[in-house]
Amino acid sequence: MTQPFGTLNPSPRLLLGPGPSQISPRVLRACATPLLGYLDPEYLHLMDETQELLRYVFQTQNEYTVCAPGTGMAGMEAAFVNLLEPGDNVLICVHGHFGERMVEIARRCGASVTRVDAEWGSAVQPEQVAQALEAVEVKMVAIVHAETSTGVLQPLEEISVLAHEAGALFLVDCVTSLGGVSVALDARHIDAAYSGTQKCLGAPPSLAPMSFNQAAVQAYKGRKMPVQSFYLDMGQFWRYWGPERGYHQTGMISMVYALREALLEIREEGLEARIARHVANQRALIAGLEGMGLVLLVHDPALRLPSLTTVLAPEGVEDKVIRGRLLREYGIEIGGGMGRYAGRAWRIGLMGYASQRANVMLLLSALGDLLRNERVDEGLAAAAASYSA
Ligand SMILES: Cc1ncc(COP(=O)(O)O)c(C=O)c1O
Repeated sequence: MTQPFGTLNPSPRLLLGPGPSQISPRVLRACATPLLGYLDPEYLHLMDETQELLRYVFQTQNEYTVCAPGTGMAGMEAAFVNLLEPGDNVLICVHGHFGERMVEIARRCGASVTRVDAEWGSAVQPEQVAQALEAVEVKMVAIVHAETSTGVLQPLEEISVLAHEAGALFLVDCVTSLGGVSVALDARHIDAAYSGTQKCLGAPPSLAPMSFNQAAVQAYKGRKMPVQSFYLDMGQFWRYWGPERGYHQTGMISMVYALREALLEIREEGLEARIARHVANQRALIAGLEGMGLVLLVHDPALRLPSLTTVLAPEGVEDKVIRGRLLREYGIEIGGGMGRYAGRAWRIGLMGYASQRANVMLLLSALGDLLRNERVDEGLAAAAASYSA
């Protein structure tokens, strides 16, 4: 019988999109480490180390620092289902696609959502939040730190103060910031946060690191009703990640190996140095893009997210053609625009291991080459059309 399936041998790719991002050979090797049982004392020790390293990267002392099983969306969903109950009021700051998802999830929790919106490409202003908090008493204020749909890095400090002055919890999505941009949970008094492993942390997708401080844990413990999701219940996570070591679900063994290795790489590089590397490489990328005459979506340099740069596709250039050719001819993946920027922008990720000067140079020369050729090809096509006419 002929073998109907080929062997697993994906083409080499340089992942410079919005995620997943390139991971290091060392993390890849960790994925291939033989499994341990999920209650094996050696594995439990690796979990403890992973928690300690996560606290370092989140910049927190929070005891409840765990991984939810699943991608970043599992973290988002877990944060909302644990902290909200039907009838609760929540204020959600929306400045892109992932803020919209927060609204959707909060509504599905039965919460009453007040939203403040910012134009895509800009950040939510503290005055908007202050005004909204005068009109409604809320249990929680939620916001996306690094809006992957726009490339905006949302300032958090003032909104955190406003949330706490109003007696609310402050929840932050750190999916595209953790490990590449300072999230500083404790310094910014962030009560609850979640992330994903496949972006700046530099591990494969499918774990969602989360951290709750005492106020968030109290809010969870003070619920009137059990969390509607058994699988995403923080108390259940803690049964396994905390001292009890009770069964909730089978441990994510290989993924925890990979995450621990990726976190060790961050510790060895040093968080500060890693953050500086993300800034420096984005600067080089921006200089090259602007040198080609391209325009960034985020005008204010202070709001540009170092791990993800959004650039407008020039007039007359087909977004998909360029992305397709980058992938086919150079093996480079970048992302397309989202929402109102679909077909009109590219999202370039320089995250974790992939944030390297050599990658910036390769992408810039490939993109420059394709943009020149697309225009030449168009010119040739126009000339051919006029000739045959
Ligand atoms: C800001 C933000 N939040 C949440 C998510 C959801 O993460 P995932 O796609 O890993 O489920 C993403 C994914 O890109 C994101 O960028």
